[in-house]
Amino acid sequence: MKAILLAGGKGTRLRPLTIHTPKPIVPIFDRPFLHYQLDLLKQVPEIDEAILSLNYQPRRIEELFGDGGDSGLGIKYVVEPSPLGTAGAIRYAGESLRESVVVFNGDVLTQLDLGAVIRLHRERQAKATIVLTPVDNPAAYGLVETDALGNVLRFLEKPNPDEITSNTINAGIYVLEPDTFDRIPKDRPWSIERSFFPSLIERGETFVAYVDRGYWIDIGTPEKYMQVHRDVMDGRYTVPAFAGHAASAWVSPEARVEEGAAIEGPCFVDAGAIVKAGARIGAYAVIGRQCHIEEHAVVEQAIVWANTRISQEAVVRGSIVGRHCHIGRSTLVDCGAVLGDKSVLTDFSRS
Ligand code: GDD
Ligand code: MG
Repeated sequence: MKAILLAGGKGTRLRPLTIHTPKPIVPIFDRPFLHYQLDLLKQVPEIDEAILSLNYQPRRIEELFGDGGDSGLGIKYVVEPSPLGTAGAIRYAGESLRESVVVFNGDVLTQLDLGAVIRLHRERQAKATIVLTPVDNPAAYGLVETDALGNVLRFLEKPNPDEITSNTINAGIYVLEPDTFDRIPKDRPWSIERSFFPSLIERGETFVAYVDRGYWIDIGTPEKYMQVHRDVMDGRYTVPAFAGHAASAWVSPEARVEEGAAIEGPCFVDAGAIVKAGARIGAYAVIGRQCHIEEHAVVEQAIVWANTRISQEAVVRGSIVGRHCHIGRSTLVDCGAVLGDKSVLTDFSRS
């Protein structure tokens, strides 16, 4: 069985972080995001290949994952000539498939029992099975209504406030039958959410929902990107870097924390980072590889990507700082700032 990972979006809501790093490979702690999705696929032994559907900066992604090595899950890359939309991308990537295929939006993280979703799809002999998750505000997602038997009655992408009739939304994970793909146009962008799913309902085809109440998040905005790190540190979701360390300070044995530096949990300090005397790594700080946190600097509730320098007495709080940045001394980076790679803030800057 194959899986298609839709990883071709531009990641506009995560700009400027996604200018040099496409969204599917933004780091979650010490690993590019797609690793976590590949781990989930590996839990289903029947899935032997992940087809990465790419468009934006495909090389960057190919270089990272290669052919999947000896992990038991092969990796193939399909690069669209131009963005074909979510359905167009699935058709393009799945052209030669003849058996049921698993599809993932390339930005969702979950602890789903994927095997159970595949079993439901087969039991119901569905044309499509969609995973739903409950959220407080469905406005930013695809709203899905079902009947008591789990049949999808309505799919409404990005509903207006007055159109919100349920709290279950499309989690961005499907099992699909490729014999439906020929109805997706080949020559123009086509949306699975706005066109393909509504058409299944119109035709009265078997389109079923699997409601999952476990952890789920779409990492596609700075707020959600920060939240997933907090959730892991709070123990709401487990990733290898933090397994067994929730709510504590995790400092790589290859990081150097000088005497007189304060490390407050929960936080994460990656290999090669240097934390100088008097500096403070506060709660919910994530410090990337080879970062330098200089004397009396403070980083809290903030994510700092690799190779960045936070100079003396600077404060970085509630913000995200890209790679290879230079935050000058006594600078304040606060209030949800998002700084792209190679940003340079002069000493004493204020945000
Ligand atoms: N290959 C390819 N080509 N991939 C694409 C394209 C394209 O033209 N457009 C989007 N994608 C990929 C994105 O990279 C992302 O992984 C996924 O498709 C979904 O796109 P987003 O831009 O992240 O959509 P969204 O978050 O606003 O909404 C979608 O996800 C929600 C769940 O997180 C929808 O599927 C909603 O219905 C859903 O609730
Ligand atoms: Mg998304």
